[in-house]
Amino acid sequence: MKKYKVLLLGASGIYGTTWYKEITRLEVTELIGVCASSMESFSKLPPVTRTPHDFYDNIEKAIYECDADIAVIVLPTHMHARACDLALKKGMHIICEKPVTANLQEAAQLCEEAKKHPDQKFMVAQNYRFHNHIRTLKWAAQNNIAGQISNILYEFRRPENLWGYRTNMELPLLKDVSIHHFDLMRYITGKNCTEIYSVAYKQPWCEFRDRASVEAIIKMEDGVIVNYTGTWSSRGAETLWDGKITMFGDKGLLTLDEKGQVIYIPAEGQPKVLENISDKTNRDTYKLTGELSKELCKGKDSQVNNCKEETHRCFSEQQKVLLHLIQCIEENRVPETSIWDNYNSFEMQWAAEVSIKENRPVRLTGL
Ligand SMILES: NC(=O)c1ccc[n+]([C@@H]2O[C@H](COP(=O)([O-])OP(=O)(O)OC[C@H]3O[C@@H](n4cnc5c(N)ncnc54)[C@H](O)[C@@H]3O)[C@@H](O)[C@H]2O)c1
Repeated sequence: MKKYKVLLLGASGIYGTTWYKEITRLEVTELIGVCASSMESFSKLPPVTRTPHDFYDNIEKAIYECDADIAVIVLPTHMHARACDLALKKGMHIICEKPVTANLQEAAQLCEEAKKHPDQKFMVAQNYRFHNHIRTLKWAAQNNIAGQISNILYEFRRPENLWGYRTNMELPLLKDVSIHHFDLMRYITGKNCTEIYSVAYKQPWCEFRDRASVEAIIKMEDGVIVNYTGTWSSRGAETLWDGKITMFGDKGLLTLDEKGQVIYIPAEGQPKVLENISDKTNRDTYKLTGELSKELCKGKDSQVNNCKEETHRCFSEQQKVLLHLIQCIEENRVPETSIWDNYNSFEMQWAAEVSIKENRPVRLTGL
């Protein structure tokens, strides 16, 4: 089967080096080009590469010269719009890191541009959706395990990570991490957001320059209310990066706890840890077709007896994102987290920011 040629933009960064390793470990992809801000920064790349690739220190040149099928964009967020636009025009499929752009207008423009390239897939790397516990929680909610869900308490607590450009970022939690949580709110409820009221504050000990704590009251379609309380300067009681999620239903509670367990707490009776049902749910996402399946399973070691059924264990989350894109290319499907779907999550980030700055509830309109 065809190997997909990949150009990695932002290869030497904190997250780009992870992408670098994961792309080079995959059988169905061939990394043919990498780009970073300077040639020196490539010394940070791990010395693992099966095939030689070209080095670039200029994104325009990289996209123009590199004959890749897929561009993986892990540049700082303010550079995403330009890189995506160029890669679309060059004819590449795209995986762009979150947040998709620096502002809503750029995201809307990219949605328009993407429409002009119907044969190219454009996916935003909302990798948290591919976590097994998230798939399990969604499955439990959709199958009414706790009955009809009325409201959700969404907690996020982690200490500061002052990586790279983040120390001086405006609203670092909201603009760097909350997009994952907003996207998961939409994913697990299957609803879009209609209105947000939000405030931000800075805890006295917080090492970020700006406010890294956010509270929000979020209205979803069908009246589900989400109470979002997030702090990226927490001392203790840490949650997962995904957050701690509690869904309140008429039969009881569903919760994703700090350890990544999905628990059903019935109104009466004992709490029950739900078995990870990602086998079932992932089968739809990674319904590997003939050739792709054979190719992916090649070279996997004997720990994995049935790679086709166990895809979620074989591959890292970056690889799952990439494989989902490839599957969509092969089957001519729209990726789960396409640019158009992601616009709705990104609009939540934008609305929360406007709400904080203008101290008012903000309604969302969609594209
Ligand atoms: N999905 C996730 O869980 C996750 C986790 C971390 C980061 N990210 C996202 O990944 C992106 C990058 O984050 P990071 O922390 O790795 O950033 P970083 O600053 O560590 O890395 C940025 C990369 O872009 C390159 N770059 C910067 N300016 C350039 C220029 N002018 N020309 C060419 N290359 C240039 C740098 O050399 C570096 O390789 C961000 O959008 C971030 O939100 C996502």
